[in-house]
Amino acid sequence: MTIALDKEIISRKGFEFDEENKLAFDGCCLEKLAKKYGTPSYIFSENMIREQCQEHIKAFDKCNIDYEVLYAGKAFLVQAMAHILNEESMSLDVSSAGEIYMALEGGFPAERIYFHGNNKSKEELNFALERNVGTIIIDNFCELESLEQIANKLNKKVNIMVRIIPGVDTHTNEKIKTGQVDSKFGIPIRDFLDFFPEIITKNHLIYQGIHCHIGSQLFDMQSYHLAAKEMIETIKSIEDKYRVKTNMLNLGGGLGARYTQKDPYLSISDYVHQLVKKVKEICSKKQLAVPKLLVEPGRSIIAEAGITLYSIGAIKEIKGLKKYLIVDGGMADNPRPSLYDARYEALIVNKFGEEAVENVTVAGKYCESGDVLIDNIKLPQAECGDLLVFFTTGAYHYAMSSNYNGFPRPPVILVNKGMDGLMVKGETYQYLNQNHIIPEWLNHNGTHGAK
Ligand code: LLP
Repeated sequence: MTIALDKEIISRKGFEFDEENKLAFDGCCLEKLAKKYGTPSYIFSENMIREQCQEHIKAFDKCNIDYEVLYAGKAFLVQAMAHILNEESMSLDVSSAGEIYMALEGGFPAERIYFHGNNKSKEELNFALERNVGTIIIDNFCELESLEQIANKLNKKVNIMVRIIPGVDTHTNEKIKTGQVDSKFGIPIRDFLDFFPEIITKNHLIYQGIHCHIGSQLFDMQSYHLAAKEMIETIKSIEDKYRVKTNMLNLGGGLGARYTQKDPYLSISDYVHQLVKKVKEICSKKQLAVPKLLVEPGRSIIAEAGITLYSIGAIKEIKGLKKYLIVDGGMADNPRPSLYDARYEALIVNKFGEEAVENVTVAGKYCESGDVLIDNIKLPQAECGDLLVFFTTGAYHYAMSSNYNGFPRPPVILVNKGMDGLMVKGETYQYLNQNHIIPEWLNHNGTHGAK
């Protein structure tokens, strides 16, 4: 028996109290998880991942349109995730051969993989074709030529889509905008029509459609509508000028997640309905058949399904100025505050419900002053050994983590209605050193270190 959480205190999906009145995520007591797996650790709710996938699919099902939902693997991909995505009938957007390999090892079908990237190496393209990856998203002219050559050599026909820069600016952090005119991703929309004959005259490449992705952490449908308009006008121009049909339109990902209660909110189903409505409306104005519509959500599927547990290891007060709670992780497991000024919320798990009495700064243990996870948060009186939970840490955390300062990455755990299991083991010092080599001339007399 679990007691529902007081919505006033915490309105986040996946949380509840267990029978001992302890805070639990997808049925698993956070304190028990911390004891079992140590801290820091990344925890993912299987049920939330599945629900977020299903919300996309259900919303599209209601729209009476041909569609495909591609999860953007760059947000978080491990073999178990690929397995879940396959079961949820999702397709997958990958950005490297490494992600293709991981997905295939996780049992994900190659034909539902879309391969992105603005500088795919020939080796990566070769690997993708050998493994029968379904579609390659062409980013630039060099890649088009390389892909044709490789497909020719392997004697394969390859489905392609082409990424376009739609010239649409968005209201988000500068570092995660991608649709603006000077973006490094894709072919400028004004050059695309002239470039188009190059695409359709390649013997081994089958033109399927066009793609754009305007940015990430977006809540503003206006930017999506503008991008849709630009893209559909391009499809119309292709038909008029070259008499070629565009089967698929991929409008990318970008729907935002809620990191703090102050963040705006747009539900997956509202986003899908508004997007499809606009696409249909523009197509009808242009007297164009509605193409198959693809979207590539990453963050909106995985961000809120993930949390991170930390322990407080030190507390430091700079009198009259600041009080630091120093946790056993930081910028190597969550680089987002230092990269994008991202804001987070956290709770002291073992003091849940106690009154918040002091303003503190939650800092990490890495050797940089910028390693601050939350600049100012009001929490109950903290002590060393307290357990902190950070919310909304599923997207671009583990995926962007590093071994800075020689720290092993934390384990990644899946929870589901009271069950818990490892998806990725925590790294060890041996693992971190497994590829290190001391060049032979440094060691010619058989000794290490100073003479
Ligand atoms: N499709 C393409 C081509 C993309 O480049 C991206 C994200 C997505 C889809 C998925 O976007 P999402 O739905 O997750 O917003 N590291 C940054 C985010 C970088 C996004 C890169 N591209 C962060 O932590 O905010």
